[in-house]
Amino acid sequence: MSRLPTILAPSLLSADFARLAEDVARVEDAGADWLHVDVMDGHFVPNITIGPPVVEGIHAVARVPLDVHLMIEEPARYAEEFARAGAHVLTFHREVTRTDREVRDTIRRFRDVGVQQVGMALNPDTPVEEAEAFLDELDLVLVMSVFPGFGGQKFMPEVLAKVEWLRARGYSGHVEMDGGLNDETLPLCAAAGANALVAGSAVFGADDVPGTVMRFRELADRARGEGAAREVS
Ligand code: DX5
Ligand code: ZN
Repeated sequence: MSRLPTILAPSLLSADFARLAEDVARVEDAGADWLHVDVMDGHFVPNITIGPPVVEGIHAVARVPLDVHLMIEEPARYAEEFARAGAHVLTFHREVTRTDREVRDTIRRFRDVGVQQVGMALNPDTPVEEAEAFLDELDLVLVMSVFPGFGGQKFMPEVLAKVEWLRARGYSGHVEMDGGLNDETLPLCAAAGANALVAGSAVFGADDVPGTVMRFRELADRARGEGAAREVS
């Protein structure tokens, strides 16, 4: 279906915050492609996590790109700080923008401050059509499979239809899924057309962290291959 690479992005939300550098190295050694960094402001979501200084600290030790997921109000206001801190992918939530104009201004601001890949995230109850007008301007669409705010929640399979819709419509950027991914649900995401896969608790909560990252890659590649085979048959 798509020639996009499979991207595994362990979410550092479930890492040991007192040993971030060690956890970063563990998942990088196991083949993580991106590091997913969850930024929460206590307004858009009820939880508060980290800000630019910690992102900068992660960037200083990371060998792979940082995939920064902003769960904050006013993302345009903070874009420059996160870009400077080392965000490679910077994703804002559709729900924090009220008008099409505001969406476009946010995307433009992200580009102006040097963000290399601009993403838009959709909550589980936000229709995928809310992204439609902007697809040409987006490098990534993040389809949330839980309501944002906390790790360790249960996957919502009903959002898979959004991923299928994006691919059926010909969207050729990254489609990322985030929330509740594990051995059972990650292949469903990949088969639906997602190529970027975020997992927090399933990776850092595993007894064998490197083994889990490697197994997720095999599961994703196999499911994406089967999805592609179905497309052409
Ligand atoms: C949730 C965050 C996720 C979270 C996923 O608001 O955006 O990135 O870390 O955690 P798991 O994989 O445990 O559902
Ligand atoms: Zn996230």
